[in-house]
Amino acid sequence: MGYRVIGGRRLCGEVVIGGCKNAVLPILAATVLTGGKSVIHNCPDILDTHTSIEILRHLGCKVEYDGTSIIVDSAAAAARALPAGPVGKMRSSIIFAGALLSRFGSFETAEPGGCRLGLRPIDLHLQAFRRMGVNFDGDSQTICGKAAELTGAKINLAFPSVGATQNVILAATLARGRTIISNAAREPEIVDLQGFLQAAGAEIAGAGTSTIVIDGVEKLQNVEYKIMPDRIVAGTYLAAGAIAGGHIRLKNVKAADIMPIIDSLEDMGINLHTEGASVVLRAKNRPNPLPILATGPHPAFPTDMQPQFTALLAIAAGHSIVIENLFEARDAHISELVRMGADIKSEGHRFYINGVERLNGAKVAAKDLRGGAALILAGLAAKGETEIHGAEYIKRGYTAIDKDLKALNAEISVLKTTP
Ligand code: EPZ
Repeated sequence: MGYRVIGGRRLCGEVVIGGCKNAVLPILAATVLTGGKSVIHNCPDILDTHTSIEILRHLGCKVEYDGTSIIVDSAAAAARALPAGPVGKMRSSIIFAGALLSRFGSFETAEPGGCRLGLRPIDLHLQAFRRMGVNFDGDSQTICGKAAELTGAKINLAFPSVGATQNVILAATLARGRTIISNAAREPEIVDLQGFLQAAGAEIAGAGTSTIVIDGVEKLQNVEYKIMPDRIVAGTYLAAGAIAGGHIRLKNVKAADIMPIIDSLEDMGINLHTEGASVVLRAKNRPNPLPILATGPHPAFPTDMQPQFTALLAIAAGHSIVIENLFEARDAHISELVRMGADIKSEGHRFYINGVERLNGAKVAAKDLRGGAALILAGLAAKGETEIHGAEYIKRGYTAIDKDLKALNAEISVLKTTP
């Protein structure tokens, strides 16, 4: 499965941004904690949502999903070993460990899979669990954690890992005593997880800052919650408007969550303004280059926007340097962009870009989620036709990128054949 893009059209029109992948995944894991009913609205209909539902059902939860709202009843959940299939598909399956530890005092899983962006170890997760009283055994294939009694602890994360922060929050929610997380990740998705847990009666505060305090409670209540808009999908479509040129409006966007993206686009000479929950972009000329674009933990420029901006800078009027500080191998899109005529040299995790006037359409392959989205954006700006294979990666994080971009006047269609 893939996409065919005919480049050269300026974008216009508007799209509504859906619920956030990286918020709904930890919140679905958190439904295991309540032992009751959770109703979650604005859930994106993406592959990872369905993978999480598969894991919940495997654990004994009753789950209904109508494409936007998910109802989970976790009364009958049990601490079963997480299923190897879904775990192999999605890195964030490790988030279920914290939820299972909190509710049942144990978890068992295979090494999680997901986009190949580098090593992606889970040492910070396991280190934190150890401080909370968890002992580990298992062989090289599986990780088994058990705690006689899960207790709150002072956790200082060596790196503000999003997943480790979320996992500690889930483990601490029903643990005995207080947990203080220092050097916590500050991403908006952590704030959304806190919002869900507070709505369920958890004692948690500080999400969005580097210090989060959780006081374990006995029980959580039934909860109803609405997932935040997806800031990376919004950023991807803004980058699409910038690379193709034109005038677009994105509705249902929390501008505060995408300020690093908006600031970088304005530095490139792109005109943006916000109107309530909408962001309007006008791109008339070829974008300016960025002397340096470095990714970092929030509120720095997000790594999940690096491939899309690398594609955008590939057609900017001058030299740019992109520095990927989060993942040691988030570069699978570079070779494909070069095949489209981009002038990019990568040295380690630095990409030296000499912007070209125009890319050329080509047959390219997505090898991860955001790299795949970047190739679609490159196709919008390329001369002629681009075929992007590997749509299964892209559908992990975008409900309907083809429909959304078509609504913005792009010429994009689904490719039935594989190479
Ligand atoms: C989350 O991944 C996101 N995924 C990623 O989005 C995102 O790129 C990343 O955060 C950074 O913002 C979800 O939320 C489902 P990390 P996560 O732990 O939690 C190292 C996308 O495209 N690290 O913050 O796995 C790790 O190797 C995906 O939507 C350790 O060394 O990211 C990496 O270099 C891709 N040990 C860095 O920290 C650990 O125990 C950031 O990882 C954990 C992480």
